[in-house]
This record gives sequence, C-alpha cells and structure tokens, in this order.
Amino acid sequence: MQRQGNFYIFTFAAIVCIIVSIIVALSATALKPRQVRETRLDIVRNILSVSGLSEDEIQSMNPDEVLSSFQKNFSPLILDKNNNQTERTELETPLLGLGYTQEELSKMYAFELVTVFSKKIPLLAKRAGQSVNDFDPGYKLVFLNMKDNDVFQYILPIDGYGLWGMMYGYVAIDRDLVTVKGIRFYKHQETPGLGGECEKPWFTDQYIGKKILNQNGDFVSVNIVKGKAGDFYSGQDLDHYIDGISGATITGDAINAFLKDDITKFEPYFQSIRTGTGGEK
Ligand SMILES: Cc1cc2nc3c(=O)[nH]c(=O)nc-3n(C[C@H](O)[C@H](O)[C@H](O)COP(=O)(O)O)c2cc1C
Repeated sequence: MQRQGNFYIFTFAAIVCIIVSIIVALSATALKPRQVRETRLDIVRNILSVSGLSEDEIQSMNPDEVLSSFQKNFSPLILDKNNNQTERTELETPLLGLGYTQEELSKMYAFELVTVFSKKIPLLAKRAGQSVNDFDPGYKLVFLNMKDNDVFQYILPIDGYGLWGMMYGYVAIDRDLVTVKGIRFYKHQETPGLGGECEKPWFTDQYIGKKILNQNGDFVSVNIVKGKAGDFYSGQDLDHYIDGISGATITGDAINAFLKDDITKFEPYFQSIRTGTGGEK
C-alpha cells in the first residue's frame, strides 16, 4: 500500500475539522430557538408551580397552554435598584444600540429581557463611559400573580451560591406581603440526598405558611435551622423557622443567606405597599 505524505495527512485532517465545525455550528444555530423555548418553558413551569399549581396540573398542559396560562395570570414588574417601576423601553433602548432589533427584543419575555440586559451591563457601561457599579440600574423582576384584576401573590426570583455552585429558584409571597406561599429550587449543583434535598416537597412544603415579618413587623425572613425547628422555637417564633437537611448545613446556610438578601432588595417596595404609599398600578 502506498504511504501518504504529510501534506496529504494535514490537508485531510484540516478538511475533516472544517466539515465537523460547520456541522456543529449549523446544528447549534438550528437548535438555538428550541433551546430558548425550552428554557422559557422551564422557567414558566417553575413560576406556575411555586404559585401553587400541582405538578399534575402542569404536566397535563401542553407547552402553548403553559405559556398562555402564564401570560394570562402573571404580570411581570421590572423595578430598578431604587424600587422604581421601569418600562421595557428603558431596557430596550440601550440594547438597540448594541445591535439587537426591535423585533428580537419585543419577542423576549420580561425575564429574558432583564437577563440579556444584565449580561450586557459591562459593555453598556463601557459605552456610557461609566464604571459598571455607577451604570448598573440594578433591574430586578417581581411577577404579580393576578386574580380578578388584583395581586394575589408576589413571586420573586432567588439565587445565590450553594456549596457546589449557583442555586436558582422562586419564592411566592402572599398578597399580605408577610406569608410565604411556596418556594422552588429549579437549578442547582448540590449533592443528591444532601443539599439536593432542597428541591424535595418534604423540604419546600415547610416554607408554606411561614412569615417573613415578626410580630413587631420587622423583616426576619424564613430560616432553616440545624436540626428540628421545634426543638429551638415555639409559638409564633416558629413562624420563621423550618427543619434543616441533615448533613447539608452548608446548603441550608447558603439558602438562608440568599433568600434573606433577595427578599431584602424588595422590602422597600413591599413596605410601600403595606403602608399604602406606593405599589403596583
Ligand atoms: C461528597 C460530599 C458531598 C457533599 N455535599 C453537600 C451538599 O450538597 N450540601 C451540604 O451542605 N453539605 C454537603 N456535604 C457535607 C459538607 O461537607 C458538611 O459536612 C455539611 O454541610 C455539614 O452539615 P451537618 O452539620 O448537617 O452535618 C458533602 C460532603 C461530601 C463528602
């Protein structure tokens, strides 16, 4: 058999590499819209779930029904770091300057728009000639779960570092702005059977009915204890504590910290509603 020279081998390898890269690039582009839709559906299903819809109800809906139920019942509200209500155009205008088209932007759900904006903050800050800190408007989202034109729950995104990586979820707070109605962790890297128990109903159900304000009206959040909450607290004090996951104190402490931080960001807004001096239109 004739042996091939180096030139032949390198040319052959280069051609194979080019063909494979083209295939990978084409499939990534072709699958992108599907990926975006799946991510959107996943987020929306979690919001429906934390708002109290059962897994069976959610599973019985097809993707279009899931999205239309969300669009019909939930109204996203974008707030800046000073808790001022912000219109979509305030996020869209700077993004148009980066080359996004109006058509692309208007197709995005509010939570996608906020995510895209947040990712582009370093670039937008540079263009504005400002430091990231000075530029960052601190946009955050709250989903108003509406019933008969009234807010019936506030759903907040929560996230922070667990033991092994970022954890993402939602917490639902009743219209009284005191009582927790549900919590979900939909993405995390915690160990199954240890920190991973955070997604199990035995754990998340404990949050239902707990209160983020104490009897004096001070914000105390809801806290996971190491062990059984009932061994340390009783009466109304028990309204702010739940049982820990054994062997997973680090995950528990992490959840306590980011849940508290994330609700704290909304406290001025909540307080303005509680005292009737502000709130949603
Ligand atoms: C392989 C491995 C995985 C672990 N995963 C977690 C975890 O996901 N979350 C957590 O809090 N602790 C995890 N731990 C345990 C922590 O290192 C630590 O011991 C624990 O959080 C202490 O909790 P405890 O005081 O309830 O025992 C893991 C330990 C090992 C060896």
